[in-house]
Amino acid sequence: MRSVIDVLDLSVEELDSLIKTAVDIIDNPQKYAHICEGKKLATLFFEPSTRTRMSFEAAMYELGGHVISMSEANSSSAAKGESVADTAKTVSCYTDIIAMRHPKEGAPLVASVNATVPVINAGDGGHNHPTQTLADLLTIYREKGRFDNLTIGFCGDLKFGRTVHSLINALSRYKNNKMILISPEELKLPSYVKKDVLVKNGIEFEQTTDLIGAMPKLDILYMTRVQRERFFNEEDYLRLKDSYILDTKKLEYARDDLSIMHPLPRVNEISVAIDDDPRACYFKQVLNGKYMRMALILMLLKEAGTI
Ligand code: NCD
Repeated sequence: MRSVIDVLDLSVEELDSLIKTAVDIIDNPQKYAHICEGKKLATLFFEPSTRTRMSFEAAMYELGGHVISMSEANSSSAAKGESVADTAKTVSCYTDIIAMRHPKEGAPLVASVNATVPVINAGDGGHNHPTQTLADLLTIYREKGRFDNLTIGFCGDLKFGRTVHSLINALSRYKNNKMILISPEELKLPSYVKKDVLVKNGIEFEQTTDLIGAMPKLDILYMTRVQRERFFNEEDYLRLKDSYILDTKKLEYARDDLSIMHPLPRVNEISVAIDDDPRACYFKQVLNGKYMRMALILMLLKEAGTI
């Protein structure tokens, strides 16, 4: 059974085809409005979420399908000690496809091995978030028209930010991209991502603490929230949380064609004064995420022979 746990589970050709489907959904929504009639998506979210969960749900409804979900993680049998494997086997009896978010790295992988329906990783701890990457890729495609020859600045919590890890993985498969990794010392990109992804693929990258210095070079600035829930102590979080705040003054150093991205939720990292700047793309990412999740659900249900 085909699941998507890591963005690398999708080939470059499949990413292209998902983008093509998403663009077709945007242009011809009525063509897709009944494809999943009578089918169900289960959302299993063991961590907070607004966008990811609601966009999966909206995606399934807009395909004509239904959604079932747990009301809250601590109201499910996980609170009684049920394993992820047993939950996955159980929920497979009720649904055609599962979207799972879990605080433990690897939990959606365990679910996918035990489920009898496709499982989509909707974020696992500080590890991966492949469907946010799909949202990011459609945004980059619509803003820049390409995935190569880009200079991308990743700024903020590069250590725990799973959306950063997944997007770096995805963009490392295209030619001539350059990554500028902007973070405090303590929140640098994990060395496994650096070695296994950037170095292995021969990607040019630099690490810096200087956002303003990097700004003029960037085609894309990917801001992130400091991931409070992954810190071992509150003091460190409080010290680091406002390391980078993008405001109109800093934006003076940026190019006119910069695309400002953020997976959201935003805490303080981007001043609301920037929301009306034509370079701000973060609410476009939200909408693009729904279309890409529709495309992904369709792809997996077709492969499973469900539709
Ligand atoms: C991200 C996540 O959950 O990793 N949110 C999202 O899904 N758009 C980013 C974050 O929580 O900071």
